Amino acid sequence: MYCYRSIAEDLFWIGGNDRRLCCFEATYPVPQGVSYNAYLLKDDKTVVFDTVDQKVGRTYFANLAHLLEGRCPDYLIVQHMEPDHSAQIADFLRLYPQTTVVCNQKTKTMLQRFFPELTGINTLIVSEGTVLETGHHSLSFLMAPMVHWPEVMMTFDSSTGTLFSADAFGTFGALNGALFADEVDFPHEYLPEARRYYTNIVGKYGVPVTAVLKKAGALGIRMICPLHGFVWRENIDWYIEKYTRWSSYTPEETGVLIAYASVYGNTERAAEYLACRLREGGMQVVMYDTSVTHPSYILAQAFRFSHAVFAAPTYNGGVFVTMETLLHDLAAHGYTNRTVAIIENGSWAPAAAKEMKNLLAGCKNLKMLEPAVTVPSAASEQTRTQLEELAQALIAAK
Ligand code: FEO
Repeated sequence: MYCYRSIAEDLFWIGGNDRRLCCFEATYPVPQGVSYNAYLLKDDKTVVFDTVDQKVGRTYFANLAHLLEGRCPDYLIVQHMEPDHSAQIADFLRLYPQTTVVCNQKTKTMLQRFFPELTGINTLIVSEGTVLETGHHSLSFLMAPMVHWPEVMMTFDSSTGTLFSADAFGTFGALNGALFADEVDFPHEYLPEARRYYTNIVGKYGVPVTAVLKKAGALGIRMICPLHGFVWRENIDWYIEKYTRWSSYTPEETGVLIAYASVYGNTERAAEYLACRLREGGMQVVMYDTSVTHPSYILAQAFRFSHAVFAAPTYNGGVFVTMETLLHDLAAHGYTNRTVAIIENGSWAPAAAKEMKNLLAGCKNLKMLEPAVTVPSAASEQTRTQLEELAQALIAAK
């Protein structure tokens, strides 16, 4: 059954929602689901912007068939080849073989790799600045390499000021009947998931994101249509400002993320003691147990706050496994520009602090507060003094 939403008289959302997905990209929990967006522009020429994940293919094709009213799509613009958007291309071209695929050269190469069975298809290769006239609309293309794959491009409709932004400006979370960000309380209900989406999916690619934001900033954007999450037609500058911060690795807020691993609770109690002293000093604090919370949530908070403390026991001569995973993830996602402190626990040969510092060694511009605090099995009077001093040092590094 079809289930679309109108964006304008001639522009429609034709995507779908998946609330059964365990892990997006086989990695990230999405307890609120996820949307796969695609769009149809019905001008003198009909234009489809991307396909969808295989999970919502039936809805997508039902939407298309209903809205096309017997017309054949003239163009399928392929902005991103990751299969959550490209999975239905072969089926699309079986249904509509006359359609011309609009893509760049890198996309064409990927198209042949993902779908070797597709031969003899009509393609229109575009590059930065190519303009496609569809009647009342004028579409131009912005190359956006590494936002989030190398072939990614965005499309700008200069007639309406609409930016079709590929993965950029997306969020985790199904749409639940809403389509526009101004139909929900986005800052409270969706911003945490938008931050988690950005930092985990695109966070590593801050430099290319900054470059494309600069290009897009000159366009006079009045609406943003991403491939996940909501369409933006109000408060666009607010959301672009968030992206500008995230992509430049600038903290959103002053505060301390405390991430700890604790097998029997002693490291946790040291972390709790530190949290109390920080709060007494007026610092905002969030705390996560790395054995309980998926690293994608903690990583998003690491991007949000200015300071982080990582506390973990020594384990197998190194650092406890869930902390190792988190720190590896942080380094892999370009964590930078933060004040950091380390707490280790070790009953006979403490080694966690050294290993944690090694894991963060590749991160640029981390201000590491020294010395690391060592908890000798359980916090001693001396440890408490050291934690009080650490709290003061963190507050002073505001
Ligand atoms: Fe939503 Fe990079 O795919």
